[in-house]
Amino acid sequence: MERRTTAISFVFFVSAIIIFILLQEKDMPLRMVDRATGLFAYLFIFLAILSSEYMMQMMKIFGTGFITIHHLLARIGISLMVIHPIAFAFEEKSISVFLPVLYPLKDFLELAGRPAFYLILIAVAAAVYRKHIIKKWKNFHYLNYLAFIMIFMHAWLIGTDLQYTIMKILWISMALIVFGVFVHKHLINSRS
Ligand code: HEM
Ligand code: HEM
Repeated sequence: MERRTTAISFVFFVSAIIIFILLQEKDMPLRMVDRATGLFAYLFIFLAILSSEYMMQMMKIFGTGFITIHHLLARIGISLMVIHPIAFAFEEKSISVFLPVLYPLKDFLELAGRPAFYLILIAVAAAVYRKHIIKKWKNFHYLNYLAFIMIFMHAWLIGTDLQYTIMKILWISMALIVFGVFVHKHLINSRS
């Protein structure tokens, strides 16, 4: 099968699993939005990171350059990521949900999505303004890896949908792949 079709089918397949699991437990509309946007933000941020592993192959696979695909995935991921806590803030009728909680460790890990939210915004801003202000923009862009692992913990610990084994497998697989991309780019490639 053509590689482009395989990649797109894979995204649809994972999305179908997420939607199926999401519909297992019906909640109030705002809570459904909060869950759905959180889950799909994770998927699209994952795909944005994964696309960076295939920078050279993008043109061959999708007929367009890395940055176009990377942007598209990032745009979808960030939009969903922004809606996710806003829906929760409406639910709680409080903007305090945007405040990071650093202590104790258990709360920090459960609510690690909060600091991760800001880390991604910084990482993305550094990339958007890379030509203008920040020389070492890539160092800031690497924050995406850290944020992803924090989001993994956050979802794992408090996600309604993460109680299902299939979702646990999906979530761990994505986190391991992101770890693999990091190791490949920075530990293996930088040595050779
Ligand atoms: C959710 C948002 C995003 C995520 C998770 C993300 C993640 C990543 C990751 C993991 C890399 C590989 C870095 C490395 O280890 O070398 C990368 C590369 C890159 N990203 Fe992003 N990114 C996002 C958004 C953006 C945006 C909005 C832009 C541009 C405006 C951008 C521009 C770039 C560029 C140019 C590279 C290639 C760097 C190089 O030449 O090695 N990214 N991104
Ligand atoms: C201010 C920032 C954030 C707040 C207040 C927040 C709040 C929440 C809450 C209350 C839940 C539990 C929902 C439930 O399952 O019932 C949750 C789960 C989740 N959050 Fe966040 N979050 C934040 C940041 C993030 C970020 C940046 C992401 C990035 C993708 C994210 C992804 C997720 C995921 C994947 C789940 C699991 C959803 C599920 O299992 O249904 N969160 N978040």
